[in-house]
Amino acid sequence: MDKYAVIGNPVSHSKSPQIHASFAEQTGAALEYGAILAEKDKFRETAERFFAADGKGANVTVPFKEEAFNLANSLSTEAGKAGAVNTLSLDAEGKLCGHNTDGIGLVTDIKTNHGGSLTNKSILVLGAGGAARGILQPFLDENPALICIANRTVSKAESLAELYRDSGDISACGFDDLEGRQYDWIINATSASLQGDILPVPIELVGEKTWCYDLMYANEPTAFCRWSQQAGAGKIMDGLGMLVEQAAESFLLWRGIRPQTREVIDRLRSS
Ligand code: ATR
Repeated sequence: MDKYAVIGNPVSHSKSPQIHASFAEQTGAALEYGAILAEKDKFRETAERFFAADGKGANVTVPFKEEAFNLANSLSTEAGKAGAVNTLSLDAEGKLCGHNTDGIGLVTDIKTNHGGSLTNKSILVLGAGGAARGILQPFLDENPALICIANRTVSKAESLAELYRDSGDISACGFDDLEGRQYDWIINATSASLQGDILPVPIELVGEKTWCYDLMYANEPTAFCRWSQQAGAGKIMDGLGMLVEQAAESFLLWRGIRPQTREVIDRLRSS
């Protein structure tokens, strides 16, 4: 049996083992996929021990994506741009390769599962942490009209916009500066939903054609999804589809086959 795992802290809530078990069943792959809790200061040892014990690949989740970026011997373009790694694989010489499948997972979910488009669209990204950084390049690759990054700490939004300045129309601001236009897309890349916090974003930014997407997911609608509903958004999505799509991209990297995702998403949604 080939061994894979997700490494995180916390990790017991992770749906990745369930998702990869579905992919293995679907593709007839003989593999086991576990969840490994690493102590906050022991990511490197934990990952190295896993691969020394014949691990074939790992997903990396909060709070270790930047450490995984530092651990990898080589990086994919996406991981290099994102400054974060969510998937580790081994090359032919047994060296660790770092990838980031979060952004492509999100774009696939938007386009394939929701029938959405980012091309020529105005996009407001809320948040400027790791989650926002992971999605900006894949978004810019879709040629949006503009991207505005708004964050509680404005300087972080400004630094992030600066990184991508040459790749498109990308600006930065604080929540207080947001007014005067409706966006085609509002993406919540903050972790505020995790604490149930509502962001101080004017409701007027949302029109009936605005699609709102929370990168977080939960069994109940997130605080951002509830806010979007009250604001009258045209469509509201959470991050469950992104989670399954990024997992499918990891599986493709490891096994050379991309599993079907629709049924897996539906099953998780109703479980
Ligand atoms: P990571 O990089 O791991 O994603 P992070 O750096 O803590 O985590 O970033 C989380 C994002 O959520 C940040 O944009 C953070 O805003 P700040 O940069 O101002 O800290 C945002 N965030 C978290 N909780 C928030 C809250 N209650 N209200 C507004 N923004 C919040």
